[in-house]
Amino acid sequence: MKRARLALLISGRGSNMAAILAAAGADYPALPVLVLSNRADAAGLAVAAARGVPTAVVESRAFKGDRAGFEAAMEAELAKHGVEIIALAGFMRVLTPGFVRRWEGRLLNIHPSLLPAFPGLDTHARALAAGVRLHGCTVHLVTAGVDEGPILAQAAVPVLPDDTQASLAARVLAEEHKLYPAALSWLAAGRVRLEAGRAVITAADSARDSLLNPLPRAALLSTQ
Ligand code: GRF
Repeated sequence: MKRARLALLISGRGSNMAAILAAAGADYPALPVLVLSNRADAAGLAVAAARGVPTAVVESRAFKGDRAGFEAAMEAELAKHGVEIIALAGFMRVLTPGFVRRWEGRLLNIHPSLLPAFPGLDTHARALAAGVRLHGCTVHLVTAGVDEGPILAQAAVPVLPDDTQASLAARVLAEEHKLYPAALSWLAAGRVRLEAGRAVITAADSARDSLLNPLPRAALLSTQ
C-alpha cells in the first residue's frame, strides 16, 4: 500500500495529532512525516518527537503580519519532507486563500462544533449560551472561508444541564480523537470526492462512518 505523506500542523497541546499518530500504524493509509508548529512552545512537539516523527517550528510571531513570508517558510518545510496531505490539528493561524488553493482537496481541519453551527472560536461557550441540546465536532476540507469547507464526518454529543465549558469540551474532545483519524484515513486512501460542493466518501457505511453519535439513553427517552 502506498501511504500518503502527511504533515500535521499544530499550535498547542496536540491531542488530536497524538490520536492520529497513534492510529497511523503500518496499515494506515497516511504516513506522518512531519509535525509542524507555528509556536516553539507547543506541547505537542515533544509528543511527536517521542514517537520519532520529525518536527519543525516556523514561528508565526517572527513574521509579524508577513503572512506570505510565514507561509513560504512553511511551504519550504513541507517540500523538504515531501508532504502530500496536511491535517490541521489545533493550528491557530488562518491560512491565506493562496495557500488553501495550492493544497485544495489535500488539506483537512477539525472544528469543535457541528458546523455550520458555531464557526470560529469559543464554540463550547457559545453552544452552552445558545442552549443547544446537541453539540460535537466536524472534520472538513479547508476552503478559503474559515470553517466553511465540505464536511467529511461529524460526531455528536449531548449537552447536559449541568455542563460547564470544560465538561462539554472534554466530551467533544473524546469524539474528536475517534473522528479525525477515521476521516483522515478516507482522504489519504483517495476515497473522498466532491459532488456539487459536497464531499462524498466512496464505499462508506454511512451509519457507521459518517456520523459518530451516542445512542439515545433509555432514561432520556422514557416519558413516565
Ligand atoms: C481541538 O478542540 C480542535 O477541534 C480545535 O482545536 C483544538 C485542538 O486541540 N481545532 P489539540 O491541540 O488537538 O489537543
